[in-house]
Formats: sequence, C-alpha cells, structure tokens
Amino acid sequence: MMESNRVYLDNAATTWPKPESVYRAVDQYQRELGCSPGRGVYRHATRADQVVAQARDRVAQLLEAEDSRQFIFAFNGSDALNLAIRGSLRPGDHAVTTAADHNSVLRPLRFLEETQGVAVDRVPCDAAGRVDAAAFAQAVQAKTRLVAINHASNVTGTLQDVPRLIEIVRRQAPDALVLVDAAQSLGHLPLSVRQWDVDLLAAPGHKGLLGPMGTGLLYIRPGVEDRLAPLRLGGTGSQSNEDRQPAMLPDKYEPGNHNAVGLAGLAAGVAWVEERTPAALRRHELALLTALLEGLGGIPGLTLYGPHDPAQRVGVISFRMEPFEPHELATLLDLRFGIQVRSGIHCAPRMHAAIGTLEKGGTVRISTGPFTTPAEVEHVVESLRQLSRERGGIAVPV
Ligand SMILES: Cc1ncc(COP(=O)(O)O)c(C=O)c1O
Repeated sequence: MMESNRVYLDNAATTWPKPESVYRAVDQYQRELGCSPGRGVYRHATRADQVVAQARDRVAQLLEAEDSRQFIFAFNGSDALNLAIRGSLRPGDHAVTTAADHNSVLRPLRFLEETQGVAVDRVPCDAAGRVDAAAFAQAVQAKTRLVAINHASNVTGTLQDVPRLIEIVRRQAPDALVLVDAAQSLGHLPLSVRQWDVDLLAAPGHKGLLGPMGTGLLYIRPGVEDRLAPLRLGGTGSQSNEDRQPAMLPDKYEPGNHNAVGLAGLAAGVAWVEERTPAALRRHELALLTALLEGLGGIPGLTLYGPHDPAQRVGVISFRMEPFEPHELATLLDLRFGIQVRSGIHCAPRMHAAIGTLEKGGTVRISTGPFTTPAEVEHVVESLRQLSRERGGIAVPV
C-alpha cells in the first residue's frame, strides 16, 4: 500500500495493512472482553469463548471442512508445522520433504534426524522451483511415515502440483501422512481440504488470512489425531478434574490461554477473505504478477527467478539486479523510493541452492498483498529501472 512514503511489498512475511474490520475486532476484544476464553461462566467469558469458536468456524468454512474441531490454533505457521512434524514422527521413522520447503519444515526434520534417527529424504527442485516428480517418486517408500510438501514457495512463488505428489504418496506409501504447508497460498487462491487427499495442512493466520501476528492453524483430517502426539500439555478449561490431557479436539493440542485477541482479528480477516472470495483475490494477484513480471523482465541487469507463467505461481517474486547485492538493493529501494521488500535467503536455503542464489546472498523478494495497487507495481518497476540506469545496467547471462 502507498501511504506516507511507504510501499509495503513484504506480504509474504506478514500481510499489511489488514482490513479495518481486523483492527476493530482486535481493539474491541481488548477493550470490551479482555478475559480468558473457554474457562469462566460469566457473561464476558462466554462471549470470549464465542469469539474463538467463531474464528474456528470461519476457518473451517473457508477450507470446506465439516468439523471445525479439526482445526487447531497455533501461534504461527512454524508452530503448526512443528506440531504436525514432531507430533507424528517417531525414532527411526522415514520422512520425505522437498527443496522447496521452508526452514520451519526443514529444521524440525533436521532436528529429528540428528536426535532421533529419523531418516529424511529431501527431493530436489528444478531451476524454476518445481519439485522433481521422478525423484519424489523414488524417495517415497512403503516405509515412509510423513511427507511434507510446500504448496507455494516463499522464494519463487512456485506452485507445486500437490494432487500429483499426493497421488504418488498414496500409491507407494500406504502408512504415510501427507502434510501440506500452505503458508503462501491460503487466502491467496481457492483452497479446500476436500480438493486434496491431505492429512495435515498448516498455515499462519497472519499472512493470506489477514489476521494479526501470533496466529496460525493446523488442519487435522478426522482420525489422524490418533497418530499425532501433542507437543504442549496443560490446562484447557475442560475435564479439569483430571491431570491427564483431554483426548478430544481441539483441547488435546490447545493447552493454556489462547491468543484470543489475535483470534478475534483472525475471524475478521477470514470473513474479509470470504466476502471478497479467494477467486477474486487470486485474480487481483494474477493481474499484479503479470504486470510485475512484464515490467521487471525488461530491465537491463535484472534476473527473475521462478516460473515465467503467472498461473504457476503466487504473488512472490525473487530477482537479482547486477551489480547490486540484495541487501544493498533492498536498502536503496526503501530509502530512496519508500519500497519495502525482503532480501537474503528467506529461510529457504534449499530453494536458493536450486535456483543458484545460495552462495550469492540470495535474492530481493517482492510480495504483493490484497491491498497492493497497480500504481505501486508501476512505481517499483520504474524505481528499479532508474537504479539500473544509474549503475550502467550490466546485463548478466542467466
Ligand atoms: C512457506 C512458509 N512456511 C512456513 C512459514 C512460517 O510461518 P510463520 O512465520 O508464521 O511461522 C513461512 C513464513 O514465512 C513460509 O513462507
């Protein structure tokens, strides 16, 4: 959004601004309720409880799930991924993930590999960030217990062919759970837990769903909870006469006070997404993406990464522009043009290795949001064109 010399294009990290309704919901919860949900019987506590229930119902509705109790609230995407990964794998198990995945998948898996003898196969990607399906089919084995797949890359925006990958898992690994990391896709395009044969789906609440930071969610397919150990245990306000964690959902995985303020905002964010519709938000994103790819593609010295076809990616664009270092370029864009973007490795070292930028300091990343305008896209393209001209626009071979 272009506001007081600030063009925010770091929506892949967290979306900003949020819809007005999100700010209002957060403020209202703090001022008018302010109490703990799921515990008390007094009027305000009951209303607080309803706020959390409403957030859960809205998320379930957006993802077309039948039972909202199958959605566990977490504190961010990483928290949800940790529950899925560390809750499902046991010592000696075999897991598969991909080079497109984020450190919030890669690091829990690396930890289990190093401390519990979990065997992990990491499937490579091509230079556009697409998972190599043949290598994936080789990695998935009858003994595989968990397959963690990124849906949309936070580096190149590349969308993976998730149904095809899941089909391979189902054919070859009858006992495997499939976990999809939808951090960069949920809220960006139509998504349903019915459209895929998925067991676990994790996402932050503060990106495409437009909730505040400190929110995240994990969808658990009915029955999969029997294979998923809770990571955090404690008071839930339910079955308080027992010192054993309740087995029912969502309490099994949600001890302690909720981020109820955040969930009030998340409910409003999801309502906004539903009202606009994910299909319309996707059209907006595609229009911006198309303009960005066209505009940036013509700048001397600028190399774009990821698929050329906007339909195969989300609104996340990585590039380098010689002779600038990514951090230098991101600093110049902010200080001279008010454009705020991310630079570096974006917590995805294997994707940077796949596109050839790991050893070079990574890329600069532009990520659009629902409030990004065509005028802002033009401003970015024009600013980069100017910087390229000033430094001589050195063309580099791809
Ligand atoms: C693909 C992907 N997965 C997981 C995460 C982690 O999400 P969070 O920052 O909410 O923990 C991110 C965040 O950037 C991401 O882009």
